[in-house]
Amino acid sequence: MKIIAHRGASGYAPENTFAAFDLAVEMGADFIEFDIRMTKDFQLAVIHDDTVDRITNGSGFVKDFTMSELSQLDAGSWFGSAFSGETIHQLEAVLTRYSGKIGMLIEIKDSALPHDLLVSIGKAIELFPFNSHTVVQSFHRSVIHLFNSMFPSIPTALLVRPRFGMISKKRLRSYKSFVGYVNPKYTLVNPNLIRAIHQAGLKSFVWTLRSKKAIERISKLPIDGVITDYPDYFIGRDGRR
Ligand code: G3P
Ligand code: CA
Repeated sequence: MKIIAHRGASGYAPENTFAAFDLAVEMGADFIEFDIRMTKDFQLAVIHDDTVDRITNGSGFVKDFTMSELSQLDAGSWFGSAFSGETIHQLEAVLTRYSGKIGMLIEIKDSALPHDLLVSIGKAIELFPFNSHTVVQSFHRSVIHLFNSMFPSIPTALLVRPRFGMISKKRLRSYKSFVGYVNPKYTLVNPNLIRAIHQAGLKSFVWTLRSKKAIERISKLPIDGVITDYPDYFIGRDGRR
């Protein structure tokens, strides 16, 4: 089972920053998960929310900042003064720093992206030889469908929330044409769902495990990966699982 550090080891360091990603590498996680959004100048910034308000000293929508403006914000102090030097990075900077060191689960947050920008995501990923350890995911079916049609060799995943309702076997089979993974929220998960996902020829990374209770819920299921803020809950100090 793969251990995926959600927004990096975000239980211990500010989400989606190098501090959180470095810690995930140190802890021995298999992947870092992070979120990307389009900036005003059509770059891809690594940030979860659609505004900068919660995690920086700035205010406003990500789409109204240029990449250069975003990179000047303090994205660490909200978590702790020791992290005041942390900043928002561009997708390419994260790929450059972590390719070959850890897998990357990249979540496209925008529900619609200009075609050119989707192409630039795929091309940026393809620049690095660690391709099979990079997975592109989204809640937006049309985005991931289009991405897969352009870059069929890059693994893709569809995120599913409880409000999608029960996922039928027929629907899972239809997902198989454009994704290799169906990644449900942990509250949706039960033995039948995991069996159906596997029977459809798909894998499943489950999100987001933050409490012992949540971990207990999925612990006996044959899932393919856990997305967690606390990779160390799953990996001992000696690296044992
Ligand atoms: O990777 C799954 C998880 O990240 C989806 O939810 O809101 O944390 O991006 P969110
Ligand atoms: Ca995410």
